[in-house]
Amino acid sequence: MKLLVLNGPNLNMLGVREPDIYGREDYASLERLIRDTCGELGVDVEICQSNHEGELVDQIQGAFGRMDAIVINPAAYTHTSVAILDALKAVALPAVEVHLSDVNDREEFRKISYAGMACEKTIVGKGFQGYTEAIRYLVQTYGT
Ligand code: DQA
Repeated sequence: MKLLVLNGPNLNMLGVREPDIYGREDYASLERLIRDTCGELGVDVEICQSNHEGELVDQIQGAFGRMDAIVINPAAYTHTSVAILDALKAVALPAVEVHLSDVNDREEFRKISYAGMACEKTIVGKGFQGYTEAIRYLVQTYGT
């Protein structure tokens, strides 16, 4: 399986950013965990983080015909971006949405997820483990 893992704005600030919500581990540790998990499972992974909505849309479009599945944490764009929702619908790849924090137990505006409308599964509030769960789910469902 070829997998795209896409991370949205401010996730590059993990470890520094609101550690009580997002934890003390940095973005490099998250990337390591994703690569290790994919290595164990025989998944060929590409990881991208961007602070720019259009770049995230370009990455999703670029997955078309090249990737088998997407794991996405659109971060703040989760709650605002119809463009990311439309890109996910356009490529129609199996996608899993991940949030480190429990977005359903925070401000009201975080309860809306546009991207989630194009994802077959959403994992919230499990920290970094949410990504490994998403990867394992995709491998179990679609095979390596
Ligand atoms: C987040 C939750 C979003 O509401 C927030 O804007 C983020 C991170 C999470 O992983 O918990 O930047 O996606």
